Amino acid sequence: MAQDYMWYDGIPFPAVDCKPETLKAAHEKFVVKDEDIMLVAYPKSGTHWLIEILCLIHTKGDPKWVRSVNTYNRSPWIETESGNTTIVNRKEGPPLISSHLPIQLFPKSFFTSKAKLIYVIRNPKDVLISGYYFWSSTNLVKKPESLEQYFEWFLRGHVPYGSWFDHVRGWLSLREKENVLVLCYEEMRKDPRKSVEKICQFLGKALEPGELNLVLENSSFQAMKENKMSNFGSVAKELVLNDFKITRKGITGDWKNHFTPAQTQAFEETFREKMAGLPPELFPWD
Ligand code: A3P
Repeated sequence: MAQDYMWYDGIPFPAVDCKPETLKAAHEKFVVKDEDIMLVAYPKSGTHWLIEILCLIHTKGDPKWVRSVNTYNRSPWIETESGNTTIVNRKEGPPLISSHLPIQLFPKSFFTSKAKLIYVIRNPKDVLISGYYFWSSTNLVKKPESLEQYFEWFLRGHVPYGSWFDHVRGWLSLREKENVLVLCYEEMRKDPRKSVEKICQFLGKALEPGELNLVLENSSFQAMKENKMSNFGSVAKELVLNDFKITRKGITGDWKNHFTPAQTQAFEETFREKMAGLPPELFPWD
């Protein structure tokens, strides 16, 4: 049975994962440490891929860890009850923390810490399509009846974690900070090697050429598709329909196979209005 939303601070969250008290505690009480590495993205922007890359950088490309421990334990989500508990009780492993939170609900302590944060953005038209299939294939929230309906919800921000436009605008306001790195899914697809090198440089980590190759190999779409630890393998069967995988298509521009000309026009008008004033080079997609 599909769950309803839990509204918090005007934003719809998946009720099954996010409780008001956990969100409040994550925002107000959670203490971010200087050595923490925060991986943040609007859902369906490549969060799991980024986590896989960071985990593999930690193991210098050795896939043992990513194949034996699920994503949610390797880099727990701060806004979920189980994720929050895992982070607080963690005794070993790299200090990776994931989140889909909008900036205004992120742990306050981050903003006075030296913790590093990586934010991934993706063409919102592809985020919409990816989200449509994802939320339709899970019982995490109310399912859309059609793509047309989900399209309307997305433009209004009545989708899990709220408006893409507000989320991205909020987080991009930190893009000049030296402890923040903004990556783009399309650039990661085009040149994954350069993206991994950028991450390593940002984190001050050095990899041997062979190690870098292993990171790339083991975080490829195919490798992740075959790894059930990276693919919702441990999520309760009643929440995920028909063996749904996070690794659906992993391509750029899938929106072109779905949007009508009228939807493209409506989307672009909303984008122009909501993202006005931001440099177009921040959005290197078509
Ligand atoms: P699609 O649904 O378009 O295929 P998130 O992790 O934020 O939920 O994002 C999921 C999206 O990232 C999915 O997009 C998924 O296929 C894509 N993805 C996951 N791993 C990937 C990888 N290794 N390479 C490219 N895309 C990947």
